[in-house]
Amino acid sequence: MRILLTGRNGQVGLELSRSLAPLGELVAYDRAELDLASPDRIVAAVRSVKPAVLVNAAAYTAVDRAEREPEAAHAVNARGVAVLAEEARRAGALLIHYSTDYVFDGTKDAPYVEEDAPHPLNVYGQSKLAGERAIREADCAHLILRTSWVYAERGANFFLTVRRLLGEKEELRVVADQVGAPTFAGALADATAKLLKDRGAQELGERRGVYHATASGSTSWHGFATAIARLEGVERRVRVVAIPSEAYPTVARRPRNSRLSNDKLQRQLGVALPPWEVSLAACHARLARPS
Ligand SMILES: NC(=O)c1ccc[n+]([C@@H]2O[C@H](COP(=O)([O-])OP(=O)(O)OC[C@H]3O[C@@H](n4cnc5c(N)ncnc54)[C@H](OP(=O)(O)O)[C@@H]3O)[C@@H](O)[C@H]2O)c1
Repeated sequence: MRILLTGRNGQVGLELSRSLAPLGELVAYDRAELDLASPDRIVAAVRSVKPAVLVNAAAYTAVDRAEREPEAAHAVNARGVAVLAEEARRAGALLIHYSTDYVFDGTKDAPYVEEDAPHPLNVYGQSKLAGERAIREADCAHLILRTSWVYAERGANFFLTVRRLLGEKEELRVVADQVGAPTFAGALADATAKLLKDRGAQELGERRGVYHATASGSTSWHGFATAIARLEGVERRVRVVAIPSEAYPTVARRPRNSRLSNDKLQRQLGVALPPWEVSLAACHARLARPS
């Protein structure tokens, strides 16, 4: 099975480079090798690699910056994805694509299911939703895996930021009224590889659609930070104080409820990601290990 991976230097992309490699011939491109803002490059890359599976881990992910760069966000997350999907259809390839909890407005008081109506609060969410719609319109074989609150040992993420601040400060003030599932990029990449290994591209294509794929369980950003402080062994030295969203204004609005039900993924495709606390401990342990 030949797999074309985009965004190989991102949090999820790096982990996919590891988890997909045993499944066949993996051709992995970074932004310089395959820029999703360049339709011609996408067409040329897909037509020369001729993959059976296209895994798109590339995205414009700067949520706040997207508010002043909507054109750049849409170029990558909507129009670039549309071209990828069209090329996947033309090649008869399966497209595995990642989307986000930010397609929802967070007003539901239970975990979101795949059938819930999206209503993004910010430009990033709008651009990701436009990408989802472009994939459906292209009608290629596809899996859209919506995930949330992604972190890894490398990259720009909440886990690494909190870890650094815990070493510098005596008090951290963290938003406690936004809830979701912190999802380890390694666990998402493993789940993606398991889907391909267990079901194969053909069956996944037949079961095409949107699936929610986050860690099990949920917490707030404050709960996440508190768990990191505990793992770092600094919970007595650094106070992690719960604050409301209003006390931490951001350029882009964010949903209060980011919880996504993973029942469909588990029931229909037999895959579940570990509880968020388990993966957090695993990621933390990886950092402690000498590389
Ligand atoms: N991070 C989250 O909390 C989160 C939450 C929900 C869903 N997701 C989704 O999960 C997927 C993976 O996200 P992630 O956390 O791995 O993001 P990430 O760490 O920001 O990685 C994104 C990658 O995409 C690359 N990229 C950006 N613009 C590109 C372009 N024009 N052409 C090609 N590559 C480009 C980036 O390259 P550079 O390294 O050169 O910038 C980076 O390597 C994305 O679809 C994202 O929307 C993420």
